[in-house]
Amino acid sequence: MTTLSRDVGVTLAERTRSDFPILDQLDSQGGPLVYLDHAATSQKPQAVLDALRGYYSNDNANVHRGAHQLSARATEAFEGARAAVARFVGAAGPDEVVFTRNATEAINLVARTWGDANLQAGDEVLLSVMEHHSNLVPWQQLAQRTGCVLRHVGITESGELDLDDLRQQLNKRTRLVSLVHISNTLGCRNPVEEIAALAHGVGALMLVDACQSLAHQSTDVNQLGVDFLVGSSHKLCGPTGMGFLWARKDLLDAMPPFLGGGEMIQDVFLDHSTWAALPHKFEAGTPAIGEAVGMGAAITYLEALGLEQIAAWEAQLTRYLFQQLDSIEGLRILGPTPEQQPGRGALATFLVDGVHANDIASMLDLAGICIRSGHHCCQPLHRHFKVTGSARASLSFTTTFEEIDRFAAELQGVIAFFREHG
Ligand code: ALA
Repeated sequence: MTTLSRDVGVTLAERTRSDFPILDQLDSQGGPLVYLDHAATSQKPQAVLDALRGYYSNDNANVHRGAHQLSARATEAFEGARAAVARFVGAAGPDEVVFTRNATEAINLVARTWGDANLQAGDEVLLSVMEHHSNLVPWQQLAQRTGCVLRHVGITESGELDLDDLRQQLNKRTRLVSLVHISNTLGCRNPVEEIAALAHGVGALMLVDACQSLAHQSTDVNQLGVDFLVGSSHKLCGPTGMGFLWARKDLLDAMPPFLGGGEMIQDVFLDHSTWAALPHKFEAGTPAIGEAVGMGAAITYLEALGLEQIAAWEAQLTRYLFQQLDSIEGLRILGPTPEQQPGRGALATFLVDGVHANDIASMLDLAGICIRSGHHCCQPLHRHFKVTGSARASLSFTTTFEEIDRFAAELQGVIAFFREHG
């Protein structure tokens, strides 16, 4: 591996660091806190905190209902956030964006509405062994309801999606291919464009879980050629409790509603109801208005930084992270290297011979370094590797080379400690 130059001028981290008040704090021992768990949840810039405070301080009211000015402003802010999501993913219009609580709910929405209405016993849904539980369990429940069959694409030696296996498993019975864009554990970037074309070739639809890619590289549903895309606000510098489903308008139009109640109706009679126009047909009850406004502000912030710039800086950081981890004896990274896959995600999930991932994370925490350990909501993937858990360091554009240096040095210390005393 070539040694990476650290002389990169003013980095994106240097430019953005002061936007994130939470990063400017000392750990419980008085040293600088190093947050390397961005894949679990991203930190929030001041612009998002200001948007939340501004909304609740000035505009808070229920949306789409009131005749008064506060409700009009709240509705404008809420629908402005929807327009921001539509722009961010290249949707044809805001009515193709349905707000949900999170990406998990968005996948459940598709399974419960499109899935229940369209799938029958013997139809197939093609997933992969690297999927997050949120892209496995809703389809298992659908299979129980409808008798549809679930198939799972395997992974290659290098920890990438096995495209040969995918081509073999795809067939005329496949009705949906549902895959993660960037794996939260392997970090691999799946070639969604190519897979969507293959899926359409057999008459299947394609859903992509973009939770780990939306904040890290630019996304365009037209370029990807998918039919459904789900995302999560808290993974893209926005608040928790908010996510979205994007789908083509003709699909959404044909899908029955998800939850029933206020806001999703046109007319309610005692014995039946009719549905509101898109996207409100899928949004029962008072939505998470402030959270939507916060997500809109997060998107505007990311767009101002530039997704290309974010991707370029994070690619440098990822190469540096791999370079540092590479020199540690007995450490094995799951997933492709940046050389094998230059567009891979900005994270490294690893196993260390003889040292448990939870012990690594706990010891690093004592040194003020926050990483994740466990199965990362990917138990089947960990079973594939015959382990119950792994450790994961995940980066963001705010990450510095110095933080990676500190992480690597402390990690070496932790491993040496366990090898001596363990
Ligand atoms: N899915 C999140 C993660 O990867 C929670 O950590």
